[in-house]
Amino acid sequence: MPVLLKEVIDGLQIIPSGIYVDCTFGGGGHSKKILEKLNQDGRLIVFDQDEDAKKNVPDDKRVTFVPHNFRHLQRFLRFHKIQKVNGILADLGISSHQINEAERGFSTRFDAEMDMRMNQKDQKTAGDIVRNCSEAQLHKIFEQYGEVTNSKTLAKRIVEVRKTQSLNTIKGFKDAVYPVVKGNPEKYFAQVFQALRIEVNDELNVLKELLAQSVAVLAEGGRIAVITFHSLEDRLVKNFFKNGTFENEAPKDLYGNAIENELKVITKKPIIPSTEELKVNPRSRSSKLRIAEKIKVS
Ligand SMILES: C[S@@+](CC[C@H](N)C(=O)[O-])C[C@H]1O[C@@H](n2cnc3c(N)ncnc32)[C@H](O)[C@@H]1O
Repeated sequence: MPVLLKEVIDGLQIIPSGIYVDCTFGGGGHSKKILEKLNQDGRLIVFDQDEDAKKNVPDDKRVTFVPHNFRHLQRFLRFHKIQKVNGILADLGISSHQINEAERGFSTRFDAEMDMRMNQKDQKTAGDIVRNCSEAQLHKIFEQYGEVTNSKTLAKRIVEVRKTQSLNTIKGFKDAVYPVVKGNPEKYFAQVFQALRIEVNDELNVLKELLAQSVAVLAEGGRIAVITFHSLEDRLVKNFFKNGTFENEAPKDLYGNAIENELKVITKKPIIPSTEELKVNPRSRSSKLRIAEKIKVS
């Protein structure tokens, strides 16, 4: 069930003959609606690094599937001979398909290998991280990406138990660290798993690369819509749309003058799901949509 569907489609202000990019095709819910708004001259380029998404791609000559990470947006648009696009959508995170497939290792509800790779051709799994990262690295991952309150203790515990236990499976991992769990175990493991997933898939860096490239590929008046699911991502999108950088202040040139931003913020505050949407789709709970428009700078 696509999150914030109407809000995304309204926000993109789709031109029927335009070229659009869905960076996170997944089950194709958002793409389907975009296609409905396009005429026969319109084009839709869809990215998904998970090969499982391919089976959802409609048989439609207007659609091009790119089975790669959206961090290569500009490269693949060039490859398909596209200079500029009229709109970009990124609905970040994992799909329902990925979370519901036990063996993908994303969900704390199942027992499977500690995997969590969106792209199954990638080398590094969550298991590799808990087995091989140093205590300091683990501490940083849990603190920065999961905001886990006792990240230092957790890192120490992992390094201690892995001397005698393999930490290959979700159940094995959860049992091994259970003695240091603080507060509600469900919430605690959700934060721990979020941190590992962000590290496995390099999620913050790929988002930064996508945002930076989007400015170059958007046509004037073109819009970018990004749905995030946690504050780390939302902060990056918010700052980038507002300032053109990932910091909380606008960059200045050598003379101290503010460098003009090529994006105009359309959503001063993020759009969040309505009560009705939350009722029918509880997974939309922490989603936030931000939209910006490419403008002409002097
Ligand atoms: C939340 S789902 C998108 C759901 C989709 N909007 C729909 O309506 O069905 C995110 C999808 O994006 C993919 N994805 C996440 N990060 C990606 C990245 N950096 N590059 C390519 N695909 C990515 C995931 O594999 C997943 O299938």
